[in-house]
Amino acid sequence: MKVAVTGGAGYIGAFTVRALLEAGHEVRVLDDLSTGHREALAGLPLRFEQLDLCRDPLEPALDGVQAVVHFAGKALVPESVREPALYYRVNAVGSLRLLEAMHRVGARAIVFSSTCATYGVPDAVPIAEDHPQRPVTAYGSSKLSVEHMLRDVAHAWGFGAVALRYFNAAGAAADGSLGEDHDPETHLIPRILEAARTGTAVQIFGTDLPTRDGTCVRDYIHVDDLARAHRLALERAGDEGLGRFEAFNLGTGRGSTVREVIAAAREATGREIVAQPAPPRPGDPPALVADARRARERLGFEPEHDLDAIVRSAWAWHRSHPAGYASDNGAVGARAKAVGECERGG
Ligand SMILES: NC(=O)c1ccc[n+]([C@@H]2O[C@H](COP(=O)([O-])OP(=O)(O)OC[C@H]3O[C@@H](n4cnc5c(N)ncnc54)[C@H](O)[C@@H]3O)[C@@H](O)[C@H]2O)c1
Repeated sequence: MKVAVTGGAGYIGAFTVRALLEAGHEVRVLDDLSTGHREALAGLPLRFEQLDLCRDPLEPALDGVQAVVHFAGKALVPESVREPALYYRVNAVGSLRLLEAMHRVGARAIVFSSTCATYGVPDAVPIAEDHPQRPVTAYGSSKLSVEHMLRDVAHAWGFGAVALRYFNAAGAAADGSLGEDHDPETHLIPRILEAARTGTAVQIFGTDLPTRDGTCVRDYIHVDDLARAHRLALERAGDEGLGRFEAFNLGTGRGSTVREVIAAAREATGREIVAQPAPPRPGDPPALVADARRARERLGFEPEHDLDAIVRSAWAWHRSHPAGYASDNGAVGARAKAVGECERGG
């Protein structure tokens, strides 16, 4: 298939681009490089279009494309609370423009990066796909609005639309060539590894929560597993899924507490990691864990990596790339990180 990947220079996008190429698909990446890295796609046989989904004409870049994997978006929860309009513009308006352009060029299959943040604070865990979606941030609401668009265009235009609600993406490539490079980095595992590398403390937001050790529980899934799930979802959307909207949780179904992640990181790094208790943040759910059965049953998707494998791969990347992709260009030292946010599941 000829597949366009929006946001293909980003963290999860770059892994998925590789998985799609390996499966024999022809790939075109559409990315404005606002948070992505051109280096993540170096040497790959693909066409790269630097464009902004919110402003630039999209039809020329989508010409001949049959399917789209849509990662491009903004994904910082606290920023979305401060700047909701930015999140609706990029995530909702950008997606709407993409759908309209797909309709015009005749591309009818789409796989969309949604999030467990669309569930808000769950009634209970694990969370199944039919759990009510009550997002508590503009990030979650903007993503949910795209799910609504997808449901409607699937019925009206015959699109095959799949929303993948990721829990917490983490990990790096086994060969050390790809990894997480966000700025600011708000995700727990890279923040813990940065603390391990530099000897600084990592904050634990909430130590008295109603969980098994009092700290937040999240469901970490390896980015290689996510990439494979996208390939499976794309094949379904473009085939038996036409005319239908479907949503799948992507998680392992197993939750880990912040203290358990820190313990796994101590084991993987062999370093003492100083953890500093801090107050919980308002609206941060104590536990977010996927009920992962639907993806297993309908996509045949089974995650292969556990928490230890995730942390080990992330540590190998972090050590070899202390400045992210810029390390390959000789940059040294720590990334300018505005750390301080705990994992929010999204
Ligand atoms: N990382 C996670 O744990 C997680 C969890 C749930 C959902 N998601 C969703 O998955 C997607 C990818 O996440 P990620 O961690 O890889 O993020 P990322 O920031 O690394 O990647 C996003 C990519 O989209 C591009 N982009 C942003 N705005 C654009 C625009 N207007 N036009 C064109 N390109 C644009 C960026 O340059 C970047 O390459 C996001 O939509 C995010 O909301 C991520």
